[in-house]
Amino acid sequence: MGDVSRYGRPIRIADGVFWVGSRNEDETLSCNPFLIVQNDQAVLIDSGSRSDFAVVMMRILQAGIDPRQIVALIYQHYDPDLCGSMANFIEMCDNPDLEVVSEHSNNLFISYYIPMDRKHLLRSVDAYHHRFSFSGRELLFVPVPYSHSPGSFVTYDVATKTLFSSDLFGSFAPAGDLFVELAEDCYHCKDFDQCPRNRPACPLKSIALFHQQVMPCRKALGYAMGQVKRLDIERIAPQHGGILNRRRDIDHVIDRLEALTEVGIDGIC
Ligand SMILES: [Fe+2]
Ligand SMILES: [Fe+2]
Repeated sequence: MGDVSRYGRPIRIADGVFWVGSRNEDETLSCNPFLIVQNDQAVLIDSGSRSDFAVVMMRILQAGIDPRQIVALIYQHYDPDLCGSMANFIEMCDNPDLEVVSEHSNNLFISYYIPMDRKHLLRSVDAYHHRFSFSGRELLFVPVPYSHSPGSFVTYDVATKTLFSSDLFGSFAPAGDLFVELAEDCYHCKDFDQCPRNRPACPLKSIALFHQQVMPCRKALGYAMGQVKRLDIERIAPQHGGILNRRRDIDHVIDRLEALTEVGIDGIC
């Protein structure tokens, strides 16, 4: 386990990009909301569960952002672990020009998180032609259908080459470390159950298990990896587990996920 006390504040992971979540030792699945700040505007990605609302709000304020500066809330699919606080944030942002952005098939379900008088704020990535600009900063929305929801997409920050990958590249890793780094042995390791370095938890095993449980099948995961490989990525910021910020690690994890078996229904029949 890592020392979680250092995560009681927003963590800058790239120029204008802040992790605004929390890490608790007793969590099996930690959630990672991210704030992108450009000039006097900000965008919040996968804001988190209802129970995480207070701490995420605190982190945003600690980052020096007034919620009224948030121009868009982006939700990369519709699960409650990222959407549960949506109504709270819509209220706190108190901005008539606020946009709540997802994909049209997600929005069928996302609309249930939004109060009746605010449903007009909901937008589809199609309406932006999969590009969103604020204060001159550009985000690209890349579809990864069925990884794991039909309308799932990932978000690429052109300025920092950061990929916000939602559940893709997630893991059940112990709450401690916000960043994942592979050791030299990891690149050649075949036995995830017996770490030659006696690490308390294998990051590759945890990532593999998460994808086998959360993703529906190899075909969907393989398609998603193909989409990701087309991007020039410097770091991957998933909604669960740790951030990958070394290119060699990113390439290796992509290779492992492309080769992963027993994904979802494939592990049953
Ligand atoms: Fe999910
Ligand atoms: Fe999730």
